Amino acid sequence: MQTLRVRSRMDAVQAPIVQVIGDLIQQAPGTISLGQGVVHYGPPQPAMDAVRASLSQPATHAYQDGAGLPALNERLASKLRDENGIDVGGGTRVMVTAGANMAFMHAVFAITEPGDEIILNVPFYFNHEMAIQMAGCVAVGVATDERYQPRLDALRAVITDRTRGIVTVSPNNPSGAVFGEAVLRDVNTLCRERGLYHIADDVYEYFTYGSARHVSAGSFPGADRHTISMFSLSKAYGFAGWRIGYMTYPAHLESAMAKSQDTILVCPTVAAQVGAIAALDVGRSYCRPHVAELAGIRDVVISTLSALAPLASVPTADGAFYALLEVNTDLPPMQIAERLIREHKVAVIPGPAFGLTAGCHFRVAYGALQKETVVEGIGRLVDGLRAIAG
Ligand SMILES: Cc1ncc(COP(=O)(O)O)c(C=O)c1O
Repeated sequence: MQTLRVRSRMDAVQAPIVQVIGDLIQQAPGTISLGQGVVHYGPPQPAMDAVRASLSQPATHAYQDGAGLPALNERLASKLRDENGIDVGGGTRVMVTAGANMAFMHAVFAITEPGDEIILNVPFYFNHEMAIQMAGCVAVGVATDERYQPRLDALRAVITDRTRGIVTVSPNNPSGAVFGEAVLRDVNTLCRERGLYHIADDVYEYFTYGSARHVSAGSFPGADRHTISMFSLSKAYGFAGWRIGYMTYPAHLESAMAKSQDTILVCPTVAAQVGAIAALDVGRSYCRPHVAELAGIRDVVISTLSALAPLASVPTADGAFYALLEVNTDLPPMQIAERLIREHKVAVIPGPAFGLTAGCHFRVAYGALQKETVVEGIGRLVDGLRAIAG
């Protein structure tokens, strides 16, 4: 009998870190998780009502249009025009996907051949690196500056004739940085000049604090031919389990995107799309109070963690619901993360998952918990880091 081959392309791909940390948490009951990047609230009531009503419609249970329900696409087109400055139609298409993660996978398949390179600003979102590697391509990491903003010279320096795109995530996971309009515009222009795609992840578009503002790279003049923008209902509408995201992309990629969608998903879950239309009708106002509440939690997180100086530092994070902590220690981050869970009952995500291989970093996520729990968790983190690395 032939032995089964046990090697695959997945061997080079990192394990899903949230799951790895989740397994450790399970072994330490009572652990407060500052790990997973989710919000603590669920969908708006009209979305749930619309889903319930859709269940009696035969069309809900059948395959539908691969790009998304026409009614949802229309709703998205007006949202994208009014809020993001992106015009769907003409040279730009919109596609509904099972979350922004799937949009990213489609985009990588659509713009690359095996062996091509895609540039990620470090720290990056781990699933972006994983998707690029799964497609047989190379993720090229480029360090950002001390405020986690992209460095144009550094991006320019790593472009080769195999480069196909540059990814920006703003507001950023894992740093919480909101990229400045000028630097996003420069990245977009660089991509246009060098014949690259700019893949802009706008998933945290509504999550900005203080004077920070999100801007969509897809709105810049001339961006439509080379910009792929991705969005999600997961965070804004507490929709993570419903798997609804969407992207805008240049029309010349339509057939490639359709092939990927048809093969991987056929069409997004119809009932979830019906819910998405109702959620979008409620609109951005749904998450405003939640963002205001998160702003208060973020202030506590940043000021408490800042008090760890000089043992640790945390740059201001004006967006998403993350802070990226750098600890002055030679201890390996994974070892510290494990001890934090085992000995101090608090979980954070170690930096190497985000491409931070030098230094000792941890992502602290504060979106999933009530304020008191976050405060308790941050207290444990501070005590734990002092005990382990102080
Ligand atoms: C930057 C970024 N992009 C995409 C996603 C995935 O979103 P979705 O649930 O829409 O797949 C996440 C989720 O944490 C994220 O942080």
